[in-house]
Order: sequence, then structure tokens, then C-alpha cells
Amino acid sequence: MLSAKRILLIVSGGIAAYKSLEVIRRLREGGAAVRCILTRAGAEFVTPLSLAALSGDKVYDDLFSLTDEAEMGHIELSRDADLLVVAPASADLLAKMATGQANDLATTALLATDTPILVAPAMNVRMWEHAATQANMALLAERGVFSVGPTEGEMACGEYGFGRLAEPEEIVAAIADFFRASDRLRGVRVLVTSGPTYEAIDPVRYIANRSSGRQGHAIAEALARLGAEVTLVSGPTGLADPWGVRVVRVESAEDMLAACRSAVPVQVAVCAAAVADWKVKSAKAQKLKKDGDLPRLELAPNPDILAELSAAGEGRPALVIGFAAETEKVIEHATAKRAKKGCDWILANDVSPQTGTFGGAENRIHMIDGAGVETWPVMTKTAVAAELAERIADHLATGSGKGPAARRGKTAA
Ligand code: C5P
Repeated sequence: MLSAKRILLIVSGGIAAYKSLEVIRRLREGGAAVRCILTRAGAEFVTPLSLAALSGDKVYDDLFSLTDEAEMGHIELSRDADLLVVAPASADLLAKMATGQANDLATTALLATDTPILVAPAMNVRMWEHAATQANMALLAERGVFSVGPTEGEMACGEYGFGRLAEPEEIVAAIADFFRASDRLRGVRVLVTSGPTYEAIDPVRYIANRSSGRQGHAIAEALARLGAEVTLVSGPTGLADPWGVRVVRVESAEDMLAACRSAVPVQVAVCAAAVADWKVKSAKAQKLKKDGDLPRLELAPNPDILAELSAAGEGRPALVIGFAAETEKVIEHATAKRAKKGCDWILANDVSPQTGTFGGAENRIHMIDGAGVETWPVMTKTAVAAELAERIADHLATGSGKGPAARRGKTAA
């Protein structure tokens, strides 16, 4: 899994910095090439000479070294790697990453790349538990940064708690897991729709729905993490672009359909958008005035994107997945919807107000395929996305016509 992988290891300050030597040894044993950046604080704990001896490469520690820049500029340094690993990652370095600082070679390399990053935090328990560090970690995770540890135990300072650097074998296992996962859907083109659509009444007003886009965006990111080439066609949301995904922003259902048509052919399509069923038949070019008669809105049906993508024919994706947001008889309605639209799998969820699904962080899924229904436990939308991405990868890997519900022996619908 590590063979021929290029890892840029950034060693920041902390008593645990010596463990980075064992990380390098294990990575090289696995066949990876390791290049190191040592921060000024890191150099207080481990010498450039030991890092160079173990990595078999030059160690970079000074942003403004003219010789270094001539050989390998700081931009190339991070772009030349398959993964950046920060171990140990001090509270200070994590804070700099979260705020986008670039005042030394390590922070500049971290900012000047879109190569995936894995951090292994190590610090005193109070520093780890501090709201600032926790907020920095949450922000970094949101931006797609992976992490391993810290673990619980006795610290060098004598205190006990979370903050110990993960053991070298755990860090190396996390690196191997990253490469294993990111190969699962390598080269697979995927289309995901997400968010609501806005249907214009006039240039100022529109009809919309309560979809937040959180589930669709999470699915796009989970698929990208498995190495898929994901195009996310999204209606208006307040969400940041997911990591590793090409995002096409649209407003109306018509725009969404056009963007989906431009994104095909794909092997997998996941339609998680809450597309408006109707548009206003003749949206006004000028703002409607309040005075006078009450306006009458005549509606017309919108195109059904999921049905179009599901239609048989050359270029149909191998797997088309729809969602069914229902407020009653969830499984019955979703099963009928799957047949009507012609998609392969439907993920049904109850969106009645008491469930808090719309805009909330959690979701309960009933997954319906040709063989039956499988009810998943209540999960966060991120966990639903990760589970779905794994099942898509399983499905493509086995090439079986049967969906996972069949393989897992669930009840027939
Ligand atoms: O018909 P309904 O909106 O309940 O179906 C939900 C599923 O169909 C979702 O996967 C949604 O993304 C998709 N859909 C679509 N285009 C529409 C309506 C729904 O792709 N016009």
C-alpha cells in the first residue's frame, strides 16, 4: 500500500518529535519515499542529521535558503508529494494551519498545496482540550484534513489525558488506510446533485424548499475521499465547497439538468438534490408590484433529472441512486418512486418536521434496492455519506447486479 508513495513529513516542536524517526523508518520499510521539513521548534527536539539519515534525503528547514529554493522550491516540495503528514503537529502549528499563516517553510508548504494532509497532534492535555484547539481541529477536518490521535496517557509533563502523539505504528497504519481508501474509486467519474433549487417568480422572488444540501455535499466529499472524480451540481446552499470536488453552482431545476447533461457520461450518479417539482410558468422579467390585483402564479412541471439519468440507453451510468424525502409511509412511497424513476437504489428518509432531518446533522436511511429494504441506524449525515460511498465502491468492485441490501440478506420490500 505504501510502495512508491511520496510522503512529505513535517516535524514540528514537542517532546514527541523523536517518534517521527520511527515513523520514517516504518514508512521506508513499506516502500515509501519520505522527505522531511523540520520546523525551528522541531529542531529543538530532533536533529536534521537524524531525519536525513533515516529518510535518505535532504532535510528542509529554512524557507529562505537560496540553495534549497534553486533545487526544490517550497511550492514543488508539497506538490511533489502524494500525502503531507504533520507528526507531531503542535497546537501552534495547527492554529497556523487553521488561520492560513505562512511564515516559515512548513506553514508555507501546507498552505501552498491541495495535496491531502494528515495531522498527528501532540500536546499537553489542557492545550488539546482548549476550545481554541478543538475549534481549529474542527475547522481543519471540515476542510478535508485527516487526523490520527492524539491518544490518552501520561504526558512528559506528568499530567494525564489526551494529547499523546499516536504511536508510530498507528500513524503509519493511518497513512496506509488513507492510500487504501483513496484508491477504491480511483478513475471513477461520479455526478452528485445537492441542495434545493430556486424557481424564479420575478427577478427578486423565488419558490424554494428547506433542503440544506448537507447530505449531498457530504456524499460528494466521501466519494472524493475514495478517489472518485466527483462533479457536484449544487443548488444554492450556505455550504463551503467539499474537499476534492468540482462544484458547478446552479439555481433552477432547468439549470441543474443542463449542468448534469454536461457532466455525463459518469459511472455513478447520486441525485440528492431536492429539485423543485414545479417552476413558475412565466416568470416575470420585472419585479411584480404589490398594488393592484393579487398575482396568480401558474406552475409548470420541472424536468425530472433522476428519471432522465436513469433512463436506459447507451451511456446510462452503471449505478443511479436517488433519494426519497417523505413525511409518511416512507418505505411504501420510496419503493414506488424507485420503480417509477427507474433508478437502481433509493435512499429514503423521513423529513417530517419532528425528525429535524432538513438542515439537521443526522439522518435515518432506509435503503431500497432490487432485493429489499435495509434500515440503517440513525447516523450523522457524514456517516451516511461514508457508508454510501463504501457501498458504491463495493458494488463497483463486485460488479454484481445485486445491491448491498441483497448481499447483506435483508428483508424483501
Ligand atoms: O419525485 P421526488 O422529488 O420525490 O424524487 C426524489 C428524487 O428524485 C431525488 O433523488 C431527487 O434528487 C430526484 N429528483 C430529480 N429531479 C426532479 C425531482 C426529483 O432529480 N425534478
